[in-house]
This record gives sequence, structure tokens and C-alpha cells, in this order.
Amino acid sequence: MKEKLQQIVEIGVNEIAAADDLKKLDEIRVKYLGKAGELTQILRGMKDVPAEDRREVGALANTVRESIEKALTEKLCVLENAKLAADMEKERVDITEPSQGVKKGALHPLTRFNNKFMDICVAMGFTVVQGPEVETDYYNFEALNVPKNHPARDMQDTFFITDNILLRSQTSNMQVRCMETMKPPFKIVCPGRVYRNDSDSSHSPIFNQFEALVVDENIGLKDLMLMIKEILKRLFGEDVKMRVRPSYFPFTEPSIEIDATCQMCQGKGCSLCKGSGFSEVFGAGVVNPKVLEMSGIDSTKYSGFAFGPGIDRSVMVTNKIPNIKYLFRNDLRFLKQMR
Ligand code: DAH
Repeated sequence: MKEKLQQIVEIGVNEIAAADDLKKLDEIRVKYLGKAGELTQILRGMKDVPAEDRREVGALANTVRESIEKALTEKLCVLENAKLAADMEKERVDITEPSQGVKKGALHPLTRFNNKFMDICVAMGFTVVQGPEVETDYYNFEALNVPKNHPARDMQDTFFITDNILLRSQTSNMQVRCMETMKPPFKIVCPGRVYRNDSDSSHSPIFNQFEALVVDENIGLKDLMLMIKEILKRLFGEDVKMRVRPSYFPFTEPSIEIDATCQMCQGKGCSLCKGSGFSEVFGAGVVNPKVLEMSGIDSTKYSGFAFGPGIDRSVMVTNKIPNIKYLFRNDLRFLKQMR
């Protein structure tokens, strides 16, 4: 029995040393320590060993088992480490490889133009306000001196939701909301989306305007034109030329239309400006005293002026974009060219 145990240790430890993968190692474990394993059998047969030898043989058998177990554990550790190292080698990432570069986003051209315009106005002391796109007929039209059935309503083909609720067709609604709530003197500018039932290469049912309104004592057309000239310079450069034409809006009196050097041809004359070198940029005017009064401002003390550019057209012209729809499609192939 002692010899048998001695043999088991020698052969077993050698076998374990020679095992070169985890599967083989497990087979060896089963061979000696499994339910029907050689060592298990011997330990189980202890009861047949003569009583006087039992202690000695038993102690030896335990030592043998410990040796085998120890050899197995150590080898398991070695093989597992080797496997881990091999796996890591397979998955190695070469951190010295050149990267594919980080793709940077950019602001949408409309946002950029809008920000530029806002920055200019804020630097001139304007407060930026925002207001509802779903609006009542009163704020969009009536309080701006455009009563129901007034022919001027035809200038803006409006989306009505009910008889009295509509998608605002102009940011001028914010003139009224501010005049009702703010105490003069004040200067506000309101960027935002507006809606009209209009669609072709240069018109979209959704587009962007913004509204500027100044209410103060003793201000008029001269101040309006000086301010607009300054804004145009800051927007398009010192050399920009400005042209003023008479116009009509029910909420301003007098009303004017401002043209500036065509940004497509820089004033040389092109198909867009029909050879004139100028393109229309926005409507403006001195606030009609009736409009001031309707919103509770004393028109004998205060006067005002306002202007309301659409920004999509300017973005199209300065970036040579042929169709306004490009501004809303979010096609990355287009947007990447606008960076
Ligand atoms: N709201 C006008 C439009 O959409 C533009 C406009 C004209 C705004 C004159 C003004 C203004 O504030 O004074 O056609």
C-alpha cells in the first residue's frame, strides 16, 4: 500500500508537470481525485488496512493527496495565467497607430447668422425676448392695426387653427406683447420661427424672422435709418451700401423697405439682384401711434421704430444656397459644406 501511494505521488506529480492545457489537467484531477479516482479508492479502502498500520498509511495517504492537490492548484494557476496572457496578446490594441481623427460638429448656418445678428443687437443694448409660435389673431394682426378683413392680411397667407388661433405669420406679435408688459424706454429683439402657406425654391412654410422694436421719447425715422445702417455694416462689412424705398405696413407710418448691397455679387449685378447690385433685406418703419395706443403706451409722449428681417434669405444669399429647403432637410452632405 505504501509503495502504491509512493508511486501515485511520483507518477501523478510528473503527469501534472507535463500537462500543457487546462483540459488535460482536469483529466488528471479526475484520474486521481475524482469519485472513482485512484487516490479516492485507496482512501476509501482504509478500513481494510490492518489496524496497526492504519495510522501510518492514513497519514501517508493524506500527504499524497495534499501533494497532488497542491501540484494541481499550482499548475492550474500557471496554465490560467498563460491563457490570459495569450488572450491579451490576441486582443492587443496598438495605441501608437494614428487615430482616425475626431469629427467636429458645427453650428447650422441659420444659427450662426442668427447669433451674429443677436450679438450685434445685444451690443447696441437690445434685450432678447421670445414668444409663442401658436398665437391669437389679436397679437398677430389686430393689435398691429390689421383688423379682420383688412386687405393687408393677404400679404401673409396665414395658417389658422381656429377663427382666433393661428401659427404666427410674423414675429411682430412680440412687439405687442412687449409694449403691453414693458415700461418705456425699451429696446427688444425677438428671434423666432414664423409660418406661412408658401412653398417654392425661395419660400418655405416655416422660416425665421426676427423683430426689433425700440420705444423711447423723441425717436423717429432718422434714428431708425442710422441704426439700420450701423447694423448692416456690422453684418456685411463697412463698405455695405444701403437703399431705402417707401413701403406699406399697417403697423408703421411711414413704412420703408431696406435694400443692401447684394451679397451674392457684392454689388456687381447678378441674376439674383436682377443686375441692380442691391437685394431687399427687410421691412421697417416708425411705429404707428395707433399701435402704441392699443397696447397702452402714451403716443403723445413716446414714439417707436421697428424692423423685421427674415434671415433665411440672407443665409441663402451669403452662402450661395439655391433652395431654401436645404436649410431644413438636415442633410449632412449639405451641412458639411456649410462649416
Ligand atoms: N412683419 C413684417 C413681415 O413679416 C416685417 C416688418 C415690417 C416688421 C416692418 C416690422 C416693421 O417690425 O416695422 O413682413
